[in-house]
Order: sequence, then C-alpha cells, then structure tokens
Amino acid sequence: MSIAAYSTYARQLESLVTDVALGRWRRVADDVQHALNGQASAQLRRIVSRADRRTTGSFFTTGGVRQSYEELLARGTAPGGSTMIWDPTCGAGDLLIAGTSQFPIGATPAETLTLWNRRVRGHDLHDPFVAVARMRLVLAVLERHRAVGSDALLVERRWRTAFPRVQVGDGLQALRAAAEGRGFGGRLLLNPPYGMDAALPGCTWSTGRTSLAATFTAQASAAMAPGGRLFAVLPDVLRSGSRYQSWRGQLAEHLKMEEIRPHGLFDNHTDVDVFLLSAVRRRGGHSGAVAWWPPSAVSTDSVIGDHFRVGVGPVVDNRDPHDGPEVPYLTAKELPGQGETGLPLRRRLFGGRLFEPPFVVMRRTSRPGQGAKGGARGTGVLIQGDRPVAVDNHLIVAEPLRGGVASCRELLEVLDGPKVVHWLDERIRCRHLTVTVVRSLPWG
Ligand SMILES: C[S@@+](CC[C@H](N)C(=O)[O-])C[C@H]1O[C@@H](n2cnc3c(N)ncnc32)[C@H](O)[C@@H]1O
Repeated sequence: MSIAAYSTYARQLESLVTDVALGRWRRVADDVQHALNGQASAQLRRIVSRADRRTTGSFFTTGGVRQSYEELLARGTAPGGSTMIWDPTCGAGDLLIAGTSQFPIGATPAETLTLWNRRVRGHDLHDPFVAVARMRLVLAVLERHRAVGSDALLVERRWRTAFPRVQVGDGLQALRAAAEGRGFGGRLLLNPPYGMDAALPGCTWSTGRTSLAATFTAQASAAMAPGGRLFAVLPDVLRSGSRYQSWRGQLAEHLKMEEIRPHGLFDNHTDVDVFLLSAVRRRGGHSGAVAWWPPSAVSTDSVIGDHFRVGVGPVVDNRDPHDGPEVPYLTAKELPGQGETGLPLRRRLFGGRLFEPPFVVMRRTSRPGQGAKGGARGTGVLIQGDRPVAVDNHLIVAEPLRGGVASCRELLEVLDGPKVVHWLDERIRCRHLTVTVVRSLPWG
C-alpha cells in the first residue's frame, strides 16, 4: 500500500489525542507510550509496502538509534535549551520529539504549546507523515505535563492547530532558502532519505548520481548560521567510503565536528549501517583534520598498501562484452570461504585487464563481525596457478609488490587476525569494503 494509506494511523492518533486532551488517561496511558516510542515506525512497516518505503526513503528513527541520538542531543545542549529545532525531513517526527525533550514546559499544556509552536519546525513531502508528526508532538506535550502532575485539559481547537511550522514541503528547498537568507542558528536535526539521486547543479564534491543523504547534509551545513548545531543520523558509507572523501572535506570546512559515533545497523528491519554526528557551524571556512574514525581504527605504522597493489576486479559480467581470449574467470560465488585455491574452472572471453597469480582476493560485500562461508570479515583467499585470470568486480584483488606466494600467505594471516577484524568493524560498518580501506589496513 502507498504512503497515502498511512493517514489511517494519523486518524487513530487524533482519537488518542481527543481522549488525553479531555483527561481520560487511565484507559490510554500505555497507548500514548507506544505512540511516542516505536509505534509510528511499526505502523509504517505494516501499512506501507517495502518498495514504497525504499523509493521514498522512509525509515523512522526509533529503538537503539533514537536512544543514542537522544544521548548525543543531551550532550550538546546548552543550559536552558531554548533554541529552535528543525528537521527538514521529519517523517513521523521522531527527531523532533527527541529535540523537544530538552525544552522547558509552561504551567499548562496550552501554555507549553504557545511556547513550543514557534520553536519547532519540520518539513516532509508526505501529508500523512506530517499529520502523524504533529499529533505525536501534541502527545509529547500532554505526556510531559502528565509526568509532572500538571495535566490540565486542552481544548480541541488548540491541538488541531498545534505545531503550524511542521508542514508539508520540500526540505531541500527550505534548506536552500535558509542558506540564501540569514541562515538557521538553532539545532538542525537530520536523518534524511538514503537513496541515490543526481547531484545538485553546482555541486563541488560529486557528479552524477550521489547519496541524497550527502546532498541533504551539505545543504544543511550551508543553511546553518554560525553557532548553529547539526545532529544527524547518516549512512555509514558517507563516513567510510572513498567516494565521499571530498564531501567529508567540504563538510569539515564549514562544520566543527564535536562527535562522530559509529552505530551499526539502523534497526532490525533496515539493512543499512549508520553513524551519528554532532557538529557546530564555524564562523569562517577552515579545513582542519577530522577524526572520522575512532583512534583505534587509524593505522599509523606499516599498512597493506605498502606491500600490495590493491584494486577492484574489473569484470562486470552482465555489462562487459564476451570477446577477447578465453581465460579463467574468478567470481565470489565459486570462491572458497578462506585458504588457498587454484585456477577457477569457470571460463570467459575477456579482453580487459588480467591478473597473474599468485594474488589474494577479498569479497567486497561483508557485514560487520562476519564473513562469507565461515571466514572472518575481510578474510582473503590465495589464488595460485600458471595462467592470467579475469576477476569479477565483486572481489578486491591484492597483488604482492614483492615476495610472491610467501607474501600472500603472510597477508592471509594478517587478514584473519583479530586486529584486522576489529579494525574493519570500527572503520567501515557499511557492507562494502573499499579499496582505500583495504589499502590502509594495519600490516602485521
Ligand atoms: C529516513 S526518513 C527519516 C524521518 C525522520 N527524520 C526520522 O529520523 O525519523 C526520511 C524522510 O524524508 C522524507 N523526504 C524525502 N525527501 C524529502 C524532501 N525533499 N523534503 C522533505 N522530506 C523528504 C521522507 O518522506 C521520509 O519521511
């Protein structure tokens, strides 16, 4: 079902708000807890098809990642916590709810609404998400009052018109307008869509299709006034992928990073690793070094790239023409989990670059903490034989600069060591190993 169907959940929340605004807490106190914690995301999975969630980039911040995000916000809060918050892609409002937990409340729910209405800003392209976000924010107000025993009633007109600055709209355009105006000096809360789209015209850090999350973050940093703060949940590939190196460089020019925290999987239903970031917008430009990786994941001594030529296998089987000489063709599918093997039995016509054994290959796709077919994450396989080999692009190839088979065996031991497994998990939590990361793995 499409996102429009999510408005059934918005109506359910309206009836919950009707009850609690009239003080009928006894029957619905648990329902309010669920509505504020995780239900919006569970309902999204129930009501909207996986395909629609993916194409619209709709994944709400809940559970462990929201808890971690709340800790990040609490650490970055000035006493009094009186600034504005803005989530330009607010979904069902989870980040906004987390942001308001720092706000002081008034004497009554109505007074709190007067205080919070102008301090909470949000955008989303989808009306049902905005409707749910506004109702959940109202529930957050009522729940805060109930918790301190000041649960005066709230008339319907007030909650129906609450949070008018949480609106249907394009967050990217709103960020651009802020960048062209005075800038946003409050707290920008961000967990944007993670899909791919064309880089914006004039983008200096990427061309062609690029991560929307990177585009949103770059626009967010441009939209912030000096002293403004960013709290973001982002896909790990932005932190660890070589493709986003210039994005990282550009971000660091404008933002002083306060905390960069690898998190792991977004949640049990979403197969994406994420990290959390908190940063402050600088007054002027500056390009200081930023610790994108924990200190334990930065190699200082000798690295694999000093001993091996590392690259990605060049064959894209369904794209590359079947012409040229017939050669042994190595793919991840036929590769053993670990150890040593001879020439692959599979053959293919290929006129491009071939590799002379001995060399070591690693699977590019691997998850934190585990490898394929029983091997550790990043485990290599030594290929031996007397003919050049075509290698599939799901594999990373390491050719020894000297030392032949002996060097390759040494590399297998290094890759299987606990140091490398730990290092990889710290440094690159997303699924794809990259050439840059493999090159900079600690040697010995
Ligand atoms: C990953 S979800 C996160 C939602 C929310 N920030 C959270 O953390 O729970 C991204 C949201 O961005 C919205 N979105 C996608 N493109 C947008 C755009 N151009 N402007 C505003 N919202 C957008 C989607 O509808 C979706 O709700």
